[in-house]
Formats: sequence, C-alpha cells, structure tokens
Amino acid sequence: MVEETVAPTVKASTTTLRATAGGRSVKPEPLDKVSFQSEPRFKTGMEELNRVLGGGVVPGSLILIGGDPGIGKSTLMLQVSGQLSKTGKILYVSGEESASQIKMRAERLDVDSSQLYVFPETDMNVIKATINDMKPDAVIIDSVQTMQIPELQSATGSVAKIREVTADLMNIAKGQGITIFVVGHVTKGGAIAGPKILEHMVDTVLYFEGDLHHSYRILRTVKNRFGSTNELGVFEMLTDGLHEVTNPSEIFLEERLKDATGSAIVVSMEGTRPILVEIQALVTASVFGNATRTATGLDRNRVSLIMAVLEKRAGLLLQNQDAYLKAAGGVKLDEPAIDLATAVSIASSYKNRGTSPTECYVGELGLTGEIRRVTRIEQRVSEAHKLGFKRVLVPANNLQGWTPPTGIEVVGVATLSQALKLALG
Ligand code: TYD
Ligand code: MG
Repeated sequence: MVEETVAPTVKASTTTLRATAGGRSVKPEPLDKVSFQSEPRFKTGMEELNRVLGGGVVPGSLILIGGDPGIGKSTLMLQVSGQLSKTGKILYVSGEESASQIKMRAERLDVDSSQLYVFPETDMNVIKATINDMKPDAVIIDSVQTMQIPELQSATGSVAKIREVTADLMNIAKGQGITIFVVGHVTKGGAIAGPKILEHMVDTVLYFEGDLHHSYRILRTVKNRFGSTNELGVFEMLTDGLHEVTNPSEIFLEERLKDATGSAIVVSMEGTRPILVEIQALVTASVFGNATRTATGLDRNRVSLIMAVLEKRAGLLLQNQDAYLKAAGGVKLDEPAIDLATAVSIASSYKNRGTSPTECYVGELGLTGEIRRVTRIEQRVSEAHKLGFKRVLVPANNLQGWTPPTGIEVVGVATLSQALKLALG
C-alpha cells in the first residue's frame, strides 16, 4: 500500500467535467433531432492497426495503447507516426527517450519525415502550449506515466496524476479535434492500476501483448467507441521493427506438432476476449494401480469429471490410465466451454489418433454426455475464422439465431460420442 496525497479537487473536477462535455451539445435534445455525420476515418497504412481501430483512425479520438514494458509500444507508435506524417503534421512527445534516441530508433525503423516532430518533454503545460502553437493533426504521448502536471502534488505515475493528464488530453482531443495516442505501461493482471483506471475515459483502448521471448505481438481492441471490440491485429517484431502478419493462424499452430495426438484447440473467452488455446493431454497406462490425474492451467476436478463422462458415455476405459493435462502457453482456463476440447484431447491421446490441425472445439459437457450451449458463440467462431480455422464443432443448440461467417464450417454436435466421431473418426 502506498499513501497518496490527493490533488486539489476544484481543478480536478472542472477538468474532468470539461473533458466529457467539451465540444458537445450542452442541452438535452430529442434523439431524432440529433444530427451526426458518419465518422470520417483516416487509414494508417497498417492494415492490422486499421482493423483493430474499426477501419481507421477517427479524427479527434483519444486512443490508449497499453502493454507490458518492452513489448514494443514505442516502436509501434513511431512506425504509426511515420505513416501518419505522410498526410499530416505529427507531434511525438516522449517522456522516456531523448530526441537523439528516438532518431536512432527511427533510423532503424526507416522512419523519416519533415512532418514528424519529436519532443522530449514531460510537463503537460508545456505540451499543451506546444500543441496550441503547432496545431498538429495527431499527437503521440509516450507514456502517460511519465507526464507531469507541476501544480499537482502527487508523484509522477500516481493514479490521481494519470487521471488528470488523461482528462487534459481528452480536452485537447475533443476541443481541437486532434487525434491523440496515449501509451500506458501495464503489467499482466493490471498490477499497475494506472492505465486501467483511465480505460473508461478514453475512446479506444488497445492492448499490445505478447511474450517477450517470442517475436510475435498481438494488438487487441479492449474498448472502442467507434467500432467492434472483437478485433485483433498480429505483428512480428524483427530487427527493423514491427511487421504485419497477415496470416496469423500459422503462429498459433506453429509450435503444435502436426499429427500429434492428445491435442485440441479451444476458443475460450478471457473476460470479453476470445483466445485460442491448445489443450494437451497425455494418457498412459497407470503403473501403480492408483491412477493419477494432473492438470496445469485447468481445474483438476473438472478433468476427473470429464474423464468419468468419457468412460461412462463414450465407452473409453480410463480408470486405469494416468492423465496429464495442460493448457499450453501457461494460461489458466476456467470456463465450462473448454470441456469439449478437453474431452477430445483426452480421447485423442487415449486412442492415439490426432485431431485435424484446422479444427477447434467449443462446448460444455453435461453428465449425461450431452453438449450444452455456451455464451458468445459468434465471437468465438469469428475468432477461429480470423485465425484460419476451417471447422469448428459447437453445441447444436448454439446454431440458431445467427449466421456464421463464410469460410469456416460450423458443425453442431449434440452428444459427446457424436463429437468424438467427427473429431477423431
Ligand atoms: P519498445 O517499443 O521500446 O517497448 P515499449 O515502448 O513497449 O516499452 O520496444 C522494446 C523492444 O523491442 C526492445 O527490447 C528491442 C525490441 N526491438 C526490436 O526487436 N526491433 C526493433 O526494430 C526495435 C525498435 C525494438
Ligand atoms: Mg517505450
């Protein structure tokens, strides 16, 4: 616990108010009288970024890019700045690097422009004055944690200060119609609460994620006032910067052995986000009579239950088998929709028969061997489709009321044995 001095409240409340009301109508209006133009968007030249933004940048929007330190946020922003500076004046404010450091990075990224202004500064008053003078088309703030408001007493990076800085930026974005990208460092699980608390203030929240030990990075929309939140963009970090990955399915299957048995892919929801995870199972004859079941990233009791259902309803003799289960990639899965994939991977290992690498499984398993309906089926299927999967087995009851995207076969299954027959032949 860290004690924090709260900033003077008068100023705080006015800025916050103005931030939400700035540039908008102040009187209640009947909805049918409200006029609007469909938001014009400018394309960034990075298709993956356009996609996560809902088709391009909406001018005057405030966009938060969150992610772990070192994941590549500054790199992404500098590349985006380079793109945007082809059509407008861009101000890149960095509180973390000097102009020459930015230049060095820009050289490596092959970014060069007379319209791109770099500005190593952390004082929000100076930054505001500069924006007023310069009238840039877009501003990058790298990062929100390093920005300061000298009048405020609280420490740089404190929650109160981050909120104030964001309110200031919101004012500029809405008042002057300048698009602002704000970088925020977050650690996994939101340990640094800062950027988390400002998610509700900004228009769009993107998360840049990935494993520091691997070169792939995923850009996800967590919130978007101007588009869908089901989008993701995939990049690869190379020595000359981030490259778009147009066919991401390969990565997700990259470490998966072809024809391996005991592996099944599930589309699991992580909060509101669908993620594809491989569930691995290794089933071997038990040596000491007492069969063991271990599970990493999965609930062990749930695994025992699924094995019992497999035994009773699908005729697999599992009682004298040891089973080791694992959700690959170190994730923790705890929703019922992973049951079917868990069952398929166990059966696959037991029968020594592999699943198709372009197939995935979604469904909850009931005790009578029925496959039960799950939530957000559309989102799951479109994520699987986006990642190049060709077929997905879903609960038969989930088929009504929506149209699956073209290019992916959606097969409804009602029972476990039906699913196993389709998956393992
Ligand atoms: P950076 O954008 O500084 O991360 P963040 O702003 O999110 O903290 O990226 C840091 C890492 O990216 C750094 O460890 C080196 C790597 N990197 C490359 O691999 N290739 C490149 O071209 C660049 C610029 C960085
Ligand atoms: Mg950085």
